[in-house]
Amino acid sequence: MKVLLVNGPNLNMLGKREPHIYGSQTLEQIVNQLQTRAQSMHIQLQHVQSNAEHVLIDTIHASLDSVDFIIINPGAFTHTSVALRDALLSVNIPFIEVHLSNVHSREPFRQHSYLSDKAIGVICGLGSSGYDYALMSAKQYLEKAK
Ligand code: DQA
Repeated sequence: MKVLLVNGPNLNMLGKREPHIYGSQTLEQIVNQLQTRAQSMHIQLQHVQSNAEHVLIDTIHASLDSVDFIIINPGAFTHTSVALRDALLSVNIPFIEVHLSNVHSREPFRQHSYLSDKAIGVICGLGSSGYDYALMSAKQYLEKAK
């Protein structure tokens, strides 16, 4: 079972970036914890973080036929990127959208997502635990689909 974790722009700044909103853990800490969890669940977890839209798109394209599920926190591209939506649709890999913060309690422009209507599910406002819940849900989803 192979899961691709995608983190979009500015998420490399976690720990330093608006900690009252995004928490004090760094992305490295979050990903390391998730890797440990994935191993115990017999899931192979690949991670990409980029601030460049095309890198995220290219990584999603390269996942065709090799990745079973995608967990994606698209950062601000959530609210802007038709291209990221099209990339996910082009590979037809089921995905869960994760946000650390509760985007619905913030600025109105954060309340629209170009991905949510195509996602298996959306998790927001639960901090880094959202990634854990997404991983558990991905496993359940893939086991059901077998
Ligand atoms: C975010 C929410 C987005 O609105 C924001 O642009 C981010 C992070 C979150 O994880 O809460 O970069 O995706």
